[in-house]
Amino acid sequence: MAEPEPPSVAALSLAETATQSVGKATEQEINPWDVQAATDEHGNVLEFDYEAISRKWATKLIDQALLDRFERVTGHKPHRWLRRGLFFSHRDLEHILDTYERGEDFLLYTGRGPSSGSMHIGHTIPFEFTKWFQDVFDVPLVIMMTDDEKFLFKENLTQPEVYGYARENAKDIIAIGFDIKKTFLYIDSEFFTSGFNRHFNLNATEFEKLVTNNQVRGAFGFHGSTNIGSNAFAAKQCVAAFASSYPFIWGQDYKTYHRDAKLASIPCIIPCAIDQDPYFRLVRENSSRMDQPSPKPALIHSKFLTALQGAGGKMSASNPNTAIYMSDTDKQIKNKINKHAFSGGQETLELHKEKGGNPDIDVAYQYLTYFDDDDEKLAKFADDYRKGIMMTGDMKKECISVMMEYVNKFREAREKVTEELLDQFMQPRKLDWKGNQNPTKTKASEEKNEEKATEEGVPLGEDGKPLTKNQQKKLLKQQEVERKKREKEAAKK
Ligand code: TRP
Repeated sequence: MAEPEPPSVAALSLAETATQSVGKATEQEINPWDVQAATDEHGNVLEFDYEAISRKWATKLIDQALLDRFERVTGHKPHRWLRRGLFFSHRDLEHILDTYERGEDFLLYTGRGPSSGSMHIGHTIPFEFTKWFQDVFDVPLVIMMTDDEKFLFKENLTQPEVYGYARENAKDIIAIGFDIKKTFLYIDSEFFTSGFNRHFNLNATEFEKLVTNNQVRGAFGFHGSTNIGSNAFAAKQCVAAFASSYPFIWGQDYKTYHRDAKLASIPCIIPCAIDQDPYFRLVRENSSRMDQPSPKPALIHSKFLTALQGAGGKMSASNPNTAIYMSDTDKQIKNKINKHAFSGGQETLELHKEKGGNPDIDVAYQYLTYFDDDDEKLAKFADDYRKGIMMTGDMKKECISVMMEYVNKFREAREKVTEELLDQFMQPRKLDWKGNQNPTKTKASEEKNEEKATEEGVPLGEDGKPLTKNQQKKLLKQQEVERKKREKEAAKK
């Protein structure tokens, strides 16, 4: 079913500025290049309102029913970042679960714009999540390092600089533990000049033709003096979601001019922070218009990670006091958390014992919820903190030890990532994955249903068991009705 895509960001923010009440309060601003929390009339930074952005962009919130289905379908308990709502929103995640249930392939796609050499926990978490997703579903993954994007959008960065950052960041990403057999990582400037990118380019050019200046202006707030590379870049981040851009991953010929319609039809899911959604709305609006149509890529959106200074603040790659960097030493971690982590505790020990603290705004507690998997332990910490039994110092101590463990483990892995290993990840090649070995559904659409029926003689039911004669008759009737309905709809169009 075609869902109406929401109005563009730029259009919305214009409308909002017009109706904004007087005073100094500002609305939150979320787009791929600028993320600002709202402020109140006194200039205080407020928390991000994620339900508001989900409503505004018409994404779906991830609810318990979806998580239950996730667990049923995959046999995996949802990751703590799903359970705790760090990944809070999606588009078409159900379709990806359907695809998996049928035992069909889908592509996992994510990326990073390398704007600096140093990565912090706010950068690694989306990749940690992507790795978990890949482990759960056992599917091919592409990781796009957009050095071209950062060069085009950042005034003061040169091409050699962004390329250098891309290589450093890529090694950090590899250290997270991606399986090289299932993962193709590329740096745009390198892949786009490699000769392996013919189908990617054909897709990009076709997509560029489908999208007008007005559309990208609407989606990203571009204007007449925006450089033309920025306009065109959007197409690249979009077609990177089409499996047909990477025929070699499926062992297919990448030199021929003919792209493969079957590859184009492979679904894709993109884990990303919510600010990247405008890019992917563009691809969702246009993927069916490609000569070889692709399904709308599914999305799973994360919130922004809390900066050390507290909710509404931003972790910055250029201000070490805002975040735990992956290159931090134990001592730095300890100092940063002790000195800079915003506390939800009371001013004095006495007051804290009397009134208790607020874990919801306590950064040390928030970081524990990112990295400690033990739901019960965390619930107890929160409870004790509220009651004033647990002190700010205790919370920070717990946080420091968990963060040290995470960063140390990363450091060990990172030391093993060589230039050669990076080049192997970046080599365009056939990938090797298994997908769902025990599909429980043999069809989602009736066509597939029919194909399967002739393939194997007897179609299978929801429970995976062959249908009885009566059930088969019923199914055929149903299919007939469905087909007529479809024909009618097609005729209307
Ligand atoms: N534009 C993203 C950034 O600036 C990088 C990116 C490219 C990306 N493709 C993506 C991020 C897919 C998430 C998912 O960081």
